[in-house]
Amino acid sequence: MVKVLFVCLGNICRSTMAEAVMRHKVAAAGLEDWILVDSAGTGRYHLGDIPHPGTRKQLEQSGISWEGIYARQIERADLGAFDYLVGMDRENVQGILRLAEGEEAKKVFLLSDFVDDAGWDDVPDPWFTKKFDVTYQLVSQGCDALLERLRKDLPVSI
Ligand code: 4NP
Repeated sequence: MVKVLFVCLGNICRSTMAEAVMRHKVAAAGLEDWILVDSAGTGRYHLGDIPHPGTRKQLEQSGISWEGIYARQIERADLGAFDYLVGMDRENVQGILRLAEGEEAKKVFLLSDFVDDAGWDDVPDPWFTKKFDVTYQLVSQGCDALLERLRKDLPVSI
């Protein structure tokens, strides 16, 4: 089982969207038994909240479920529990790294790291930009690329 944790600031806009989109892509690929997906925020502004209305609308338009997703804050134990900790922007990555000890830092990535010639670094925060469609495009592109990377971690027969 490969375990992925998406991380943003509030865990109601970007990492939430990434969790829902990735779950959808993993299910479409028939890999639910092999890839576990979760998300968390570095901040604690929205603990227990469902996704932001803009994220919900964008997901619903794409036929993607956000069921069962509630905001939580990343904790130290997540650094041990997950194989890939994926920040939406460079500030999120710094936030994750502050919790990391030793070799754990090697499991910390920026979503755009997985996209060849991405042409972008950070997923802009729609809490401020209001551009949930832009967030969705980048998140979807990043998740496609991450899924290809994860396939390499799975047994060859999958
Ligand atoms: P997110 O967006 O990090 O993509 O979930 C934000 C959500 C809430 C806040 C900031 C960013 N906030 O300040 O409450």
